[in-house]
Amino acid sequence: MKILIIGAGYMGRRCKEAWGDEAVLSEKIISTVDEALAEIDAHSPDVVFNAAGIKGVPNVDWCEDHQLETIRGNTLEPIVLADACQQRGVYLLHMGSGCIFYGDSAHEDKAWREDDMGNPQPVYSRTKWAADLVLSTLPNVGIARIRMPIDWKPAPGNLINKLASYPKVIDVENSVTIVEDMIDVFHQLLEKRAAGIFHVSNPGTMRHRELIGLYEELVDPSHTNEWISNEELVAQGLATKGRSNNFLANENLAKVGITMRPIGEALRDTLEKYAEAKNAE
Ligand SMILES: NC(=O)c1ccc[n+]([C@@H]2O[C@H](COP(=O)([O-])OP(=O)(O)OC[C@H]3O[C@@H](n4cnc5c(N)ncnc54)[C@H](OP(=O)(O)O)[C@@H]3O)[C@@H](O)[C@H]2O)c1
Repeated sequence: MKILIIGAGYMGRRCKEAWGDEAVLSEKIISTVDEALAEIDAHSPDVVFNAAGIKGVPNVDWCEDHQLETIRGNTLEPIVLADACQQRGVYLLHMGSGCIFYGDSAHEDKAWREDDMGNPQPVYSRTKWAADLVLSTLPNVGIARIRMPIDWKPAPGNLINKLASYPKVIDVENSVTIVEDMIDVFHQLLEKRAAGIFHVSNPGTMRHRELIGLYEELVDPSHTNEWISNEELVAQGLATKGRSNNFLANENLAKVGITMRPIGEALRDTLEKYAEAKNAE
């Protein structure tokens, strides 16, 4: 299988590292259907993986004042790329975000299903949801939503690095995605050319306190931080907009025969590997 990866950022590069010669990582910025067609024709891939997007620097609050750039990267680019893939009859797997859901769902277990309607207010989440809404009507397209990536490899976008660097941390409970598992699931979805929406989060939920607890046990016993409530995050000026906290049900992965490790097991394993990687630095 020849995979064309669009979006040479954190996720695109992590997938390229894992997939090796099977994948080509495009460095091109895609703004038009013609540009997308040219990139597909230049590489003749069996499948296209879209890891492009705009998530703001240093964080998603940037998107609040840069709506057009965010719309171009998160809504227009996926539509343009999907258009080109449809024209060439190539399967597209698009990276979505679970941060389109805020709070509890209406289901008894409070978890959001793949086909539930998003309810986002922030610009970043709205632009991601807009792409999902329209791409999900197309055949031969998969949408893989992840949440709060946790990686054994130290990186600025890794939730371990982020939480360990904050002096004040909110203790919230969430569905999260272990990057090592995510890369494997993406590969399986590409192989199966699986259409529809998939929640690529590890079964179970995690509190930030659990991650920090393992970090202090396995990586840095001298680490300290203050715990604050979710409401205090915005009230204290640490964020412009409240962050999405939610639980995702991943029913559609099971339907195509894909499973992920429970978060408890995967989290400890990832922190152990993270500690090894830090020691090797
Ligand atoms: N990381 C997370 O926490 C997270 C969570 C949920 C979902 N996601 C989604 O996963 C995807 C990848 O995220 P990431 O963490 O890898 O972000 P990233 O590190 O910012 O990488 C995104 C890459 O896409 C590129 N890009 C932007 N617009 C493009 C366009 N029109 N054509 C081609 N490339 C374009 C960016 O280039 P520039 O740097 O030049 O802008 C950047 O290299 C995004 O769609 C994001 O919404 C990420």
